[in-house]
Amino acid sequence: MKPNIVVPPPGPKSMEIVKKDSELLMQSFARWYPLVVKRAYGVWVEDVDGNVYLDFNSGIAVTNVGHAHPKVVQAIKEQAEKYLHYSLTDFLYEEPVKLAEKLSKITPGAFPKKVFYTNSGTESIEAAIKTARGHFRGTRPYIIAFAGSFHGRTYGSLSLTSSKPVQRRHLGPLLPGVYHAPYPYCYRCPFKQRYPECNMWCVDFIEEWMLKKYVPPEEVAAVVIEPIAGEGGYIVPPPEFFKRLRELADKYGFLLIVDEVQSGMGRTGKWFAIEHFGVTPDIIAVAKGIASGLPLGAIIGKAEVMDLPPGSHASTFGGNPVSCAAALATIQVIEEEKLLENATRVGEYAMKRLREMQTEIPAIGDVRGKGLMIGAELVTEKGEPHIKLLQLTLDTAFKKGLLVIGAGQSTIRIAPPLTITQEQMETGLSILEESIKEAQRKL
Ligand SMILES: Cc1ncc(COP(=O)(O)O)c(C=O)c1O
Repeated sequence: MKPNIVVPPPGPKSMEIVKKDSELLMQSFARWYPLVVKRAYGVWVEDVDGNVYLDFNSGIAVTNVGHAHPKVVQAIKEQAEKYLHYSLTDFLYEEPVKLAEKLSKITPGAFPKKVFYTNSGTESIEAAIKTARGHFRGTRPYIIAFAGSFHGRTYGSLSLTSSKPVQRRHLGPLLPGVYHAPYPYCYRCPFKQRYPECNMWCVDFIEEWMLKKYVPPEEVAAVVIEPIAGEGGYIVPPPEFFKRLRELADKYGFLLIVDEVQSGMGRTGKWFAIEHFGVTPDIIAVAKGIASGLPLGAIIGKAEVMDLPPGSHASTFGGNPVSCAAALATIQVIEEEKLLENATRVGEYAMKRLREMQTEIPAIGDVRGKGLMIGAELVTEKGEPHIKLLQLTLDTAFKKGLLVIGAGQSTIRIAPPLTITQEQMETGLSILEESIKEAQRKL
């Protein structure tokens, strides 16, 4: 199967919905191009005009087992026929317990764990912040986050989010007590240093400047970080970064919370991206890929830390039985179809192919990633982010039948379903290559 463009997108039916959408929905989203989805299966997406696209987005890192995987759909149907909802806040049911058992097994750390369910990524971060502060019973109010990160858009998580000014513009004031250190972005080091000669100044900065000058370390509840920055540009920190951060957290007694909302659930070829760094966090926040498209999020943490008292945190829909059934089926599919292995194999192929492309297209300044979380940063001749080239490339790819979006200022974000074959990856990368070249001619 190949992408098949039968009507130049956006076609007439798409345009009708685009028009109504702009009249009826608050336009606080920033869409990359006018894709109007009618159906999606595996790595394919069909629009309302009958065009078929190859998907490098996975509904923004959600449909890791492929769109509408039959086993996930079956699990949803079976659960929906039993009951849809009763509310875990006041009663009990089995599905969230079964899922917690499974999540405890697939997350790093051989210690007793507890799970709290949410409905989205932002709520998982809210839950993580509350759990960390609550665990220290009010004695440690501060949170350290990283400039360049994305953690969600509700007020707690937004106070950590810092990848674009628009996310905060006119929306303050935000949660007090959040301090940002620069995200470890070696390609554009915020400290203008070079790795490894820098000797990880980005971690020393936290201790030498933040904790010794304006953030009392004994009042810090947690450091919250994405193991690989998603919205911020698909940025992979240097190998020893997390070991050093873990040491810092242990030295001063605060928690290490990793936001795996985008990087988790197999996306990077391991269940969780933090495993690439050989570090065990205290709390892991997940959402997106956990239930293949049904709303579900969770935090999984050390049992001793997950100790908010009754009544202090809950959510009517969190741990919804249909979402939990979808999540259990999702995990089963990842295991049965060996999708971690596939993500590693196809991801390595993609990185190699993109690096080959780089020799012919110098505008691809940097290629980075793990598994199927891959970024290719587009740059000008001066090495600055090439924002215009990114937009033109994505538009061109869309018109040729490839769905791919950006991250950070000018990074092509490659996050296809983990089921993608090498052949399908090659099809997508060839379209991408043509699209960059065509976009360069249009500039
Ligand atoms: C790393 C990370 N954290 C949190 C979120 C917020 O998730 P949600 O949109 O489900 O609230 C996102 C969403 O893109 C994310 O990438």
